[in-house]
Amino acid sequence: MFPIDSGTLPELPAPFWFVEFFKVLGFCLHILAMNLWFAGLPMAIIAFLLSTSNSRRFAVRMFSQLPVIMALGINFGIVPLLFIQVAYYKPFYTSTIFMAWHWFLVIPLLAVAYYGLYLCAYSLKPGGKSGYLLPFGLISMFCLLAIAYIQVNAMSLMGRPDIWNVLWNKNSIGAATLGTGINSSDPTLWLRYGSMFGLALVTSAVWMIFDANWLIRKTNDENQKKLDNSYRLWTKRFASFFAILGGLVLVFSFCQYLQILKTLPMTQDWLPSTPGQVFSLGTLILPLLTAVLILFSGKSCQSALLLFLIQFIGIAFFAIFRQFVQNLEVSQVMQIAQHPVKVQWDTLIPFLVIFVIGVLIIVWMLRQLATAPPVEEK
Ligand code: HEM
Repeated sequence: MFPIDSGTLPELPAPFWFVEFFKVLGFCLHILAMNLWFAGLPMAIIAFLLSTSNSRRFAVRMFSQLPVIMALGINFGIVPLLFIQVAYYKPFYTSTIFMAWHWFLVIPLLAVAYYGLYLCAYSLKPGGKSGYLLPFGLISMFCLLAIAYIQVNAMSLMGRPDIWNVLWNKNSIGAATLGTGINSSDPTLWLRYGSMFGLALVTSAVWMIFDANWLIRKTNDENQKKLDNSYRLWTKRFASFFAILGGLVLVFSFCQYLQILKTLPMTQDWLPSTPGQVFSLGTLILPLLTAVLILFSGKSCQSALLLFLIQFIGIAFFAIFRQFVQNLEVSQVMQIAQHPVKVQWDTLIPFLVIFVIGVLIIVWMLRQLATAPPVEEK
């Protein structure tokens, strides 16, 4: 018996397809930005430690961009969080209450990571203390790796109502839960973590190539041209290594994750179905294709854009696959798609208008970034 009332399904304020579409779209955008601090930050720290002119150039560019990327990624994460609360709130609140203190920890960890990244960016400004970069970069990195662990715990626990009673009995006094539970015994936990980290390595490698080809302004200065070309060659080599490494980590983790899903009653019948095959294979093949293509291209704006598009489609396949699995897991306690619907136009229309304005502002910001005068790289 699961400790929640799965009998009543209150009305959804928007059609189910709308909730799913924006939840997955928001999560894709969250993954795109989150991947750059999940794996891009460790790559920037390694580049900083390599201490060559090109590796330092990449580290400076990445550390200068990360505060903006983090702001975007956090806001993109709010979109799926909103829709989780609208439609998946029963399993979501139940699981996050069992691990409340860990879930609460996300806030201080994120504050430290965010300020740490700002201190890193400022340490690169003229007059800044470059000695700050490594200690604060490392502190931010460990905070973000820890938040990812908490996120994977919460999202995996949401789909494991069979574990809730165990956590409740282990972490409660009387009937009151202490909120000290964590889903560490779940065999899928580190495989989900590894799949996302592998994907993040490939996404960060693509970002390096995209940044080097699209965001470094063309110049007529012959000297600067030589430096920029040597930098693009270096980014291609560095990115190739991490893209292939990412592809291998993704394949290793995701294939094992699929093996476990094949043994679970909620997912074993869906996996061999067409959507199961298409989205699981797409999750594996597209990032791998991106990694291989980086080896053979990535020296022009066109190829950088193509890599970006293929990787984004790979991220979308992963997010859709994950959404199918989440719905199947949650169906143990509630049939999400069978919610009665009573559209609340008074909230839906402002949401849509603000969402479109938000996207337009981000496009304008990225255009400003792309057309801004070149930064002085220390
Ligand atoms: C306030 C900031 C953040 C918000 C609002 C947020 C929001 C979300 C949401 C709503 C999901 C689940 C999406 C879904 O099921 O559709 C998610 C998943 C995830 N987030 Fe974030 N996130 C935030 C910060 C972070 C940070 C700092 C990291 C660190 C790397 C991170 C890593 C992840 C990972 C790895 C997942 C996938 C978990 C899984 O399914 O196994 N997030 N995030």
